[in-house]
Amino acid sequence: MSNRYLIANWKMNLPPEGITAYLKAVATEPAGNVRVLIAPPFPYIDNIAGETKLGVAAQNCADREKAALTGEVAPSMISDCGARFVILGHSERRNLFGESDTLIARKLAAAIAVGLTPILCIGEELRIREAGQVATFLAAQIRAASEAGLDSVPEIVVAYEPVWAIGTGRNASGIMVADTVAHIREAMERFWPARFKDAPLLYGGSVTPDNVDDLETNGRIDGYLCGGASLDSGKFRSILRGMQRPSATP
Ligand code: PGA
Repeated sequence: MSNRYLIANWKMNLPPEGITAYLKAVATEPAGNVRVLIAPPFPYIDNIAGETKLGVAAQNCADREKAALTGEVAPSMISDCGARFVILGHSERRNLFGESDTLIARKLAAAIAVGLTPILCIGEELRIREAGQVATFLAAQIRAASEAGLDSVPEIVVAYEPVWAIGTGRNASGIMVADTVAHIREAMERFWPARFKDAPLLYGGSVTPDNVDDLETNGRIDGYLCGGASLDSGKFRSILRGMQRPSATP
């Protein structure tokens, strides 16, 4: 069975209650078999990794180790600061910063080379869903990632995040997620090394304490990448609690 994950993607925000109070509150919630990760902005990684036993992820990294690249952060620097994971290919990076599948594959390779576990985000825009092209579109994103040479990575996590559900308050239903996840698994089986066909597959996009039950019961997923709701330790803990309820289906 895959590892289960709950990831707080703070994006360019900090929890209003304060970092220390937030981390303490989240760490006191029983996590069962769920690995809880915090993905803060770069400058906070070092302190947070020192302060908590929760896992830490970066939200991005450069596509190489050494170069004159003003403003970029090398994967090894992330690792030096105590993060073991890195989110790559988030739709905000793809759409607002113009990151292509090719660049993301290079970033994956660079992260893997220093032993970081990548959390690869994939997801379609609404026009793709409306045109009935979701399976083909996601398969192309999965295929592009295989250029990174995934043979040498011990684990890769995939986050299915439909662009139309991110930060919009409009989440995909559990049934819709299960249907899409089946297509993603098919593509993983086809394009990735055999051992990744069961890699943890998360859902992200307006996950809240109110919709986690439906996603758990019907979604056939291994956890969540949470943005907005992750900034409030109460909401984030409640999502974690939702993952422990007996109705949950991994
Ligand atoms: P959201 O963000 O939960 O605010 O929709 C999810 C994400 O972008 O990872």
